[in-house]
Amino acid sequence: MGLSNLATTTIVLCLAAAAASLAAPDTKPRPVVIQNNDPHIYFHGRWDKSPGTWWAGSGFKLHAENLHSLRLNLGPHTTTPSASIGVSVDYQPFFQVNVSAGANDIPLGLSEVNDTTQKHKPRTVVRINAQGWQNNRVNLETIQLNHGAKLLPYTPSKLSFHFIGDSLSAGQFLPQGVDQAWPFLTGEAFKAEHTVIAQPGAALTDIVSYGNQHGLSYIFFRTEDDGYYYTADHNYTTPWNFARDVPAATHLVIHIGANDASHNIISDAFVKTYLTFVARLRTIYHKQPIFVFTPWGWPNADGTVGQYLQGSYQKIVNARHALGDRNVFLVDTTGWVTFADVFPDNQHPNVPGHQKIANLFEAWLKDWGLSPETHWST
Ligand SMILES: *[C@@H]1O[C@H](CO)[C@@H](O)[C@H](O)[C@H]1NC(C)=O
Ligand SMILES: *[C@@H]1O[C@H](CO)[C@@H](O)[C@H](O)[C@H]1NC(C)=O
Ligand SMILES: *[C@@H]1O[C@H](CO)[C@@H](O)[C@H](O)[C@H]1NC(C)=O
Repeated sequence: MGLSNLATTTIVLCLAAAAASLAAPDTKPRPVVIQNNDPHIYFHGRWDKSPGTWWAGSGFKLHAENLHSLRLNLGPHTTTPSASIGVSVDYQPFFQVNVSAGANDIPLGLSEVNDTTQKHKPRTVVRINAQGWQNNRVNLETIQLNHGAKLLPYTPSKLSFHFIGDSLSAGQFLPQGVDQAWPFLTGEAFKAEHTVIAQPGAALTDIVSYGNQHGLSYIFFRTEDDGYYYTADHNYTTPWNFARDVPAATHLVIHIGANDASHNIISDAFVKTYLTFVARLRTIYHKQPIFVFTPWGWPNADGTVGQYLQGSYQKIVNARHALGDRNVFLVDTTGWVTFADVFPDNQHPNVPGHQKIANLFEAWLKDWGLSPETHWST
């Protein structure tokens, strides 16, 4: 065989090999692995660097085509033995899944798409969030999708609520945690993005209160919720970078004071702390409407309602108006919650009670002039 023949043979063999690989492509379905820094993951709420969630309601949203299976690979900073997450597929109701460090298959109820060449690829939105005010750490390492699935950009709603509060906003005692609480329900009803920075037991004043080392006037500005103190692997807080909230909150709702009152913080001191807090919020949220809830109080079996800090909230709103800030509004919730709406043993709203509060606030907001989005942005 001459040199040129050898070369020709080599070329022919190479072509044959190429043809063989074309004829028999590697059909083994390979899952699509998404790294936790993929720009198509829409993160919301408060995440630390690991990255891991703090605060009830923090989570992420995915928009994908040809999706039918989803696995979350979670890291060692995930709550042990598990954290409860809410999952919603295509805006259906949130259901609960308990996840742990390692691989977690999330049931989506979507059927397999075999013809991935079809023109109209099915698109799906999956929304996931930590539900608990404690045991709420989800340390996301990677996301695994089925072969053929592809992440698409998620466009957030133009409306974005930030709720600030205590147990009455965080969904304490509810089976699905914050996902059944009035702030979350209100956000859903308006087809809005929503973040709930609420900590059961916490005062607004920066005092130790029912196991919380800090009040909301401090911890609101931190990445971590007050659970950090009980967390061996992350026993510290870090400043929250508000630039990470995309879009920035368009509406702020504050319902706080119960734990200040139970620590005998008197009205004058509470008003002063609240005004300092609002002034600091205004360095981040220059013009956004701030809704100041009066307490609905603690309803009793005999029909009476235990009130606290009465009159303080009107003073706060008046003081802001006097400063020229007209974008602070009093939401008078007197009478919103009766004994039938609470768990009898702890007087916190029950599941229908939270829905009732959400309905009343939605009506209040509509009267005020805010309309729900007509459709979800993604
Ligand atoms: C998740 O765990 C909680 C508490 O550990 C339990 O009460 C709940 O039933 C579990 N949920 C599911 C869907 O397994
Ligand atoms: C896709 O194929 C699998 C098995 O190959 C089958 O079980 C499934 O029903 C098919 N799905 C659809 C939507 O045809
Ligand atoms: C966190 O640190 C504080 C002291 O700064 C300590 O009292 C507390 O026990 C620590 N928590 C854990 C879970 O280690």
